[in-house]
Amino acid sequence: MIDEIRKKFQRELADVRDLKSLEDLRVRYLGRKGELARIFGEIKKLAGEEKISLGRQANELKKEIGNIFIGKNQELKSAARPQKDWLDITAPGIKPPRGHLHPRTQVMRQVEEIFMSLGFSVVDSREMETDYYNFQALNFPKDHPARDMQDTFYITDELLMRTQTSPNQVRYMEKHNPPLRIIVPGKVYRRDASDATHESQFYQVEGLMVDKHISIGHFKAVIGEFFSQLYGQKIKIRLRPSYFPFTEPSFEPDISCTFCDGKGCRICKNTGWLEMAGAGMVHPFVFKSAGYSPYEWQGFAFGFGLDRLVMMKYKINDMRLLNFGDLRFLKQF
Ligand code: DAH
Repeated sequence: MIDEIRKKFQRELADVRDLKSLEDLRVRYLGRKGELARIFGEIKKLAGEEKISLGRQANELKKEIGNIFIGKNQELKSAARPQKDWLDITAPGIKPPRGHLHPRTQVMRQVEEIFMSLGFSVVDSREMETDYYNFQALNFPKDHPARDMQDTFYITDELLMRTQTSPNQVRYMEKHNPPLRIIVPGKVYRRDASDATHESQFYQVEGLMVDKHISIGHFKAVIGEFFSQLYGQKIKIRLRPSYFPFTEPSFEPDISCTFCDGKGCRICKNTGWLEMAGAGMVHPFVFKSAGYSPYEWQGFAFGFGLDRLVMMKYKINDMRLLNFGDLRFLKQF
């Protein structure tokens, strides 16, 4: 009787292919109303030797079947899982995520390339400056009102975070003899509240060209060529009179609007022009600070905000986007 059940069980086990049918089988044999429960019920009715002997056999079968279920269960489970130590060397690889240059870096490199093609060298410098180079050597005496335009982060009475890249005019001229052509790109700092067009840290590009017989005409030609190359279209330049302590005369170059080609639109507020930079002819005071003779040398200098250039180029309307590091924004460039 016991042996018959064992054989029947083994036959049915051989057909089990998944965990669900294994569980059905388990219920049919070990469940409360299963085969073994039925056998034990019958054995109960017997007596003497027969009861003891059959009882022992039935208990053994129960144990045996129990162990088989445990083994089979594990076997089916591991078959369902993909095998770990098997490697498909023909499967396509997983691409590592790949970054790209920040839009500001892209424009910065383009700016550097254009100026290098015009014979300018790219110069790097410090971000923490002395009051002397940032202001005094550029003709901003201690109590000069123009200092107010550049609300400054001071470190000590004499040390500050540079508010402009202009200190590098004097720094460079002190170490190099004319003629020269340089640009100095870099970060500058001002105590400005952050909004769509202001950040307390932003980027400027300083330019300086010194030679004999340099005129405003040279400046217009260089800056016109620069903007035309940058925007890939012919750009006209207009100079508006302005004031900076370190240039004389001083002006602000405007460029013909890149959006409407000077016809007048919302971006240029219908003027046809966009403000782009500060500039001027190097003030004799600055040449003297650097140890150059203003009788022998002339030059022009300019400084523009790089962030604004990036915003114009990609039609970005909020400067802060350039600093957030939000990939949803950055991936567009
Ligand atoms: N440093 C000035 C500023 O941050 C910009 C500037 C104006 C730079 C005239 C120049 C210049 O080199 O000639 O506002």
